[in-house]
Amino acid sequence: MADYDFDVLVIGAGPGGYVAAIRAAQLGLRTACAESRETLGGTCLNVGCIPSKALLHASELFEEAANGKLASLGIEATATLNLDQMHASRKDAVKGLTGGIEYLFKKNKVEWLKGAAAFTGKDSVKVGEREVRAKNIVIATGSSVTPLPGVAIDETVIVSSTGALELAKVPGHLVVIGGGVIGLELGSVWKRLGAKVTVVEYLDQLLPGMDAEVRKEAAKIFKKQGLELRLSTKVTKAEASGGKATLTVEPAAGGTPETIEADAVLVAIGRRPNTDGLALGKAGLTANAKGQIEVGHEFETNVPGIWAIGDVTPGPMLAHKAEDEGIAVAENIAGLTGIVNHDVIPSVVYTTPEIAGVGLSEELAKERGAIKVGKFPMMANSRAKTNHEPEGFVKVIADAETDRVLGVWMIASVAGTMIAQAAQAMEFGATSEDIAYTCHAHPTHAEAFKEAAMAVTGKPIHV
Ligand code: FAD
Ligand code: NAI
Repeated sequence: MADYDFDVLVIGAGPGGYVAAIRAAQLGLRTACAESRETLGGTCLNVGCIPSKALLHASELFEEAANGKLASLGIEATATLNLDQMHASRKDAVKGLTGGIEYLFKKNKVEWLKGAAAFTGKDSVKVGEREVRAKNIVIATGSSVTPLPGVAIDETVIVSSTGALELAKVPGHLVVIGGGVIGLELGSVWKRLGAKVTVVEYLDQLLPGMDAEVRKEAAKIFKKQGLELRLSTKVTKAEASGGKATLTVEPAAGGTPETIEADAVLVAIGRRPNTDGLALGKAGLTANAKGQIEVGHEFETNVPGIWAIGDVTPGPMLAHKAEDEGIAVAENIAGLTGIVNHDVIPSVVYTTPEIAGVGLSEELAKERGAIKVGKFPMMANSRAKTNHEPEGFVKVIADAETDRVLGVWMIASVAGTMIAQAAQAMEFGATSEDIAYTCHAHPTHAEAFKEAAMAVTGKPIHV
């Protein structure tokens, strides 16, 4: 029908939605993007990846100066925390990047429809007072914090990740509920700035979903850094009163409860998809039992012309996954072939050292068939050793028969940067031998990856 207002309407301007909108416009489609937040960029730019990395970077530098780490390199420094300025720098990063997306929308002629969108039909959506029709609608509404029964978030004493990015002073004791990515990243920030940090994790190990050896080593490193880890423990209640909180915890398997006093509590037990208020039913859509919108290989839902990407769909809740799906969905709508290889999505925890992985964990790879594993310690990498960054290792998991790389895991100061090479190698179908015979610049941390690949066939040089 000719009376569509847009070829493509994207709901949500996070890394999934804004990328989809820009790519659709680049492909010549009349595109709009509805966003209810005051600024573009979604969770990632406003209250997620970017502000957390701003604080991780600043707090790492503070700690290096404050605790004498620099002294061993011959740099005598004293450090005084100016938390207001640290927050100002974080806000400045967010402002610059969210403003950048607004500029890109204008440049690519993507119309920003300001307000919350709700379906009124299969091809129509109401945004604020305006109703628009679009030939294609992409749901990219992202996710928000999963609440914990018995723990009311007030964003002052009991906070979500959003409140934890904005604490006005360093808490004396911060209790983090959940030993996942958010808990460890933001727990590390406040630990470095002087808080005592206790992480309460329901499971018997941190970082579910990652390689078991990496999880174990990470726990060792965080303990050494002074994080108190209460594994196999559940929080049954947390109450705030008079600017403090009291938590009730007990063994995950059941047992005697105890109380913990805290100055701040961070609830970080996962995120859940945003579909409330979308009126999915009006479009003939339903969410699955986890609240996600199911899609096929091309990101189309079971209603033709309605597509979904990013955190609101199944799979890891990561900005780069959402972005790649944004490009792919726009290309599919334009009649091209948009593909995302969900087997090769790297994940990174931006602590010190960084923790990263791509592909199968050793446990999962073993379940699927015979494997060979090569490992190389960062202690034996000349650059890491010289920089006083000896912690961690790189591990390459390859198919025993074909030698094709199935997974790569690493703990290293710059693992977040190193993992890109592993992802690219896997995307190209590399064998461990391909990596072992690729010339790597010396001295770099990346040489540890080459040596781990050499170790798959038992031939590293430096151990
Ligand atoms: P979102 O970014 O959540 O964006 C969805 C947008 O849709 C939001 O702006 C929302 O306001 C809008 N919206 C929702 N409903 C409607 C509606 N009805 N109408 C109009 N607009 C609507 N991932 C990484 O890869 N690396 C990291 O380092 C990282 N760090 C993180 C740190 C924190 C503290 C958090 C919370 C998350 C982090 N993530 C990180 C995860 C990452 O932010 C998400 O995976 C990513 O933002 C998902 O993108 P998305 O586009 O699917 O959704
Ligand atoms: P998560 O899923 O990473 O970790 C949640 C943790 O809480 C798990 O270890 C889980 O076992 C534990 N848990 C659940 N219920 C509990 C309970 N009642 N008591 C104690 N522990 C409990 O979720 P998180 O950290 O909230 O992060 C949400 C999402 O945001 C993740 O999917 C992640 O991908 C994304 N993210 C990514 C980042 C990155 O890529 N660097 C950084 C921050 C977030």
